[in-house]
Amino acid sequence: MVSLTADMSPLHPDRNLALELVRATEAAAIRATPWVGRGQKEVADGAAVDAMRAFLTTVNFDGTIVIGEGEKDDAPMLFNGERVGNGQGPQCDIAVDPIDGTTLTAAGRNNAISVLAVSDRGTMLDASSVFYMDKLVTGPAGVGVVDIRLPIGENIRRLAKALGKPVSEMVVSVLHRPRHDQLIEDIREAGAGTRLLSDGDVAGGINSARHDSRTDMCVGIGGSPEGIVTACAIKALGGHIQGILAPRNDEERQRGLDAGLKLDTVYEADDLVKGDNTIFVATGVTDGQLVAGVQRRGEYIFTESVVLRGKSGTLRRISSEHLVSKWL
Ligand code: FBP
Repeated sequence: MVSLTADMSPLHPDRNLALELVRATEAAAIRATPWVGRGQKEVADGAAVDAMRAFLTTVNFDGTIVIGEGEKDDAPMLFNGERVGNGQGPQCDIAVDPIDGTTLTAAGRNNAISVLAVSDRGTMLDASSVFYMDKLVTGPAGVGVVDIRLPIGENIRRLAKALGKPVSEMVVSVLHRPRHDQLIEDIREAGAGTRLLSDGDVAGGINSARHDSRTDMCVGIGGSPEGIVTACAIKALGGHIQGILAPRNDEERQRGLDAGLKLDTVYEADDLVKGDNTIFVATGVTDGQLVAGVQRRGEYIFTESVVLRGKSGTLRRISSEHLVSKWL
């Protein structure tokens, strides 16, 4: 039963906020588009950050960036701890990833998206002191069935059984990195296929959790911030997500401990973001399985976005047409 009371409280992010947030990811994707395939990922990211920030200023909320573009000194905008919004309305934690897939964007490859996630104040894990997280993401069939502590082959067999299909039809997506060579070998050894991602494990995770997906599971080490952002979306899909922080060296390990993070511990979905009052929005920068990228045709720019709400368990698609003349 969906509770209406939480939605009506001015202290919590509500469904109206979702539509306001889409404007920010649309703007980031549109502004990044002139830089698609231009080989300059920082410039593309900068254009997206500027656009997202300009739109966030107008949103009716009192937001604190928990996952941003880094610390204040390295990131002039959308840094961790920055307050955004007009200071009124619900008090929220915000995660921004103006482009997930800056390298994809710079190369002109598929699957780059602009992302924002919002939850109630104090509910998002601040994992910023440890760059990488080992993750396991599946759709609802994986809940109570797979576990990141198990060998990958065992998880594939369990999920295949739950999905009612042979292991040979299972497809697992993994970031294509040397650190995953053994994992990729183990997946294939178990009899499943791989979908190797050159970047972008937020879209990769969400795609694995969707009912009509071409992949069944997304595993491996990617960014920690991306893990939190993905968890916000997975709440709306009823899927499974677990993460274990993966410090790169002793110094980072210590930084994580000093920040109060738990190492060698499994973070379950509710540890990554508490509760289900999450909103996740993403707009395609370049074409992908989750959303189409920005396209200009004549006097219009076309964007496609998804909005996922944890509380209602909905995924909505928003196709927008923007007059080019308004963006000059
Ligand atoms: P950026 O857009 O910030 O470059 O992130 C892309 C990405 O592929 C993420 O989706 C992923 O979590 C992370 O990078 C993996 O990091 P690395 O490229 O260092 O393996």
